[in-house]
Amino acid sequence: MKIYPPEPFRIKMVEPIHLINKQEREKAILDAGYNLFGLRAEDVFIDMLTDSGTGSMSQAQWAGIMMGDESYAGARSYYHLAEVMSDIFGFEFFVPTHQGRAAESIITNLLIKPGDKIPSNMHFDTTDGNIRARLGQPVNLVNDQAFDTQAILPFKGNMDTNKLRQFIKETGVENIPFGTITITNNAGGGQPVSLQNIREVSQIYRENGIPFFIDACRFAENAFFIKQREPGYEEKPIIEIVREIFKLADGAWMSAKKDALVNIGGFLAVRDEALFQKISNELILREGFVSYGGLAGRDLEAIAIGLREGLEEDYLAYRLGQTAYLAETLQESGMPILEPAGGHAVYLDAGSLLPHIPQAEFPGQALAVALYQYGGIRGVEIGSVMFAYPHPETNQMIYPKLELVRLAIPRRVYTQSHLDYIGETAKEIVSIKENLRGFKFTYAPKLLRQFTARFEPV
Ligand code: F0G
Repeated sequence: MKIYPPEPFRIKMVEPIHLINKQEREKAILDAGYNLFGLRAEDVFIDMLTDSGTGSMSQAQWAGIMMGDESYAGARSYYHLAEVMSDIFGFEFFVPTHQGRAAESIITNLLIKPGDKIPSNMHFDTTDGNIRARLGQPVNLVNDQAFDTQAILPFKGNMDTNKLRQFIKETGVENIPFGTITITNNAGGGQPVSLQNIREVSQIYRENGIPFFIDACRFAENAFFIKQREPGYEEKPIIEIVREIFKLADGAWMSAKKDALVNIGGFLAVRDEALFQKISNELILREGFVSYGGLAGRDLEAIAIGLREGLEEDYLAYRLGQTAYLAETLQESGMPILEPAGGHAVYLDAGSLLPHIPQAEFPGQALAVALYQYGGIRGVEIGSVMFAYPHPETNQMIYPKLELVRLAIPRRVYTQSHLDYIGETAKEIVSIKENLRGFKFTYAPKLLRQFTARFEPV
């Protein structure tokens, strides 16, 4: 058996978790309208809903929390964060935000006019939602192999640069206020993007005068994949890979709840001073003053420390090793997964497991509900519940290419035996898969419906 890098930490504080019995789980999920977001977290045994804001902070971060400077303006903690930001990302200006979507809201509000189109490899749901809320159109230009769940390729998050060139020609630069790329590609399996691809994408945007922003949520995991997989980077320190990535962009936003190893926070960073001024004004209107942006001083301190810890190579080796271990365990249980394992999560291929459930009846939701019923495990559907939408003219439903369930691994939280338990539960579900049924909505809002929709079994 393959040995994965062990945890580069030991545990000195524990949070008890408890598995309620099957009958209690059936009642809990019924009461939640079969929406995993509607469960009480205490009724979940292993919570893989998200890796966002669910990690454990280190002793250094907790010590930093006590040292946070809560001054309204110009706090010491802000300057600490500014110094770390400048060292890692190298952008001239940044503002803290309370999470990633606050940064998305500001940038989409400032730059998008109705009818504009925003290209990316793939937009995640909050980015997608923010663009649509400004009457813009998110456009996904990831390479086609990203949709082949069995293609084992090093950089399945890469943007298809031919598609990007074609898209710019057809759309016209006047209708593309900015372009972006998501690293790693969360909506497409947590797959990394190569530096070569980021370089080419940056060049295409630059040639066309389109500002280039990086959605940087999982930049550290992406950089470690580059080190492991991209020729020429094997010996490069992670920090140098990261600097090389962000040198190629005009700005970035990030949910610090991922690779900055904190429970809340984010930022928006740019090079352009005039844009920064506009961002500052928006921030003050919605989030808070420019030196805290909706966060407490202690949060800024924890982000500053977490950003550096998230780049430590023994941590990243353990982190990506844990994801690979879960993927291997699930495969041994007979569960089809998207290959290769992503950075922060393993994506179960519900479409392949449950071919008897049509997309209109949400196979991903069926599998996500089963994981809870059988094991008290909470994942999230990333398929038609999240991404199907009616065609703007014909009103006919357009379904995504993949029906996935994501098991996102919180950082520094669960051990290998928790992951083995997930494998055992998966084995049980695989053995009864023909009995699983689809779902239909009893309520669904228009935007970001996955969060509050309610279902009943078909
Ligand atoms: N961009 C990406 C790629 C994300 O994965 C997320 C959040 C955001 C932006 C928004 O950040 O939550 O801080 O407002 N993803 C979480 C997830 C929610 O579960 O994948 P946020």
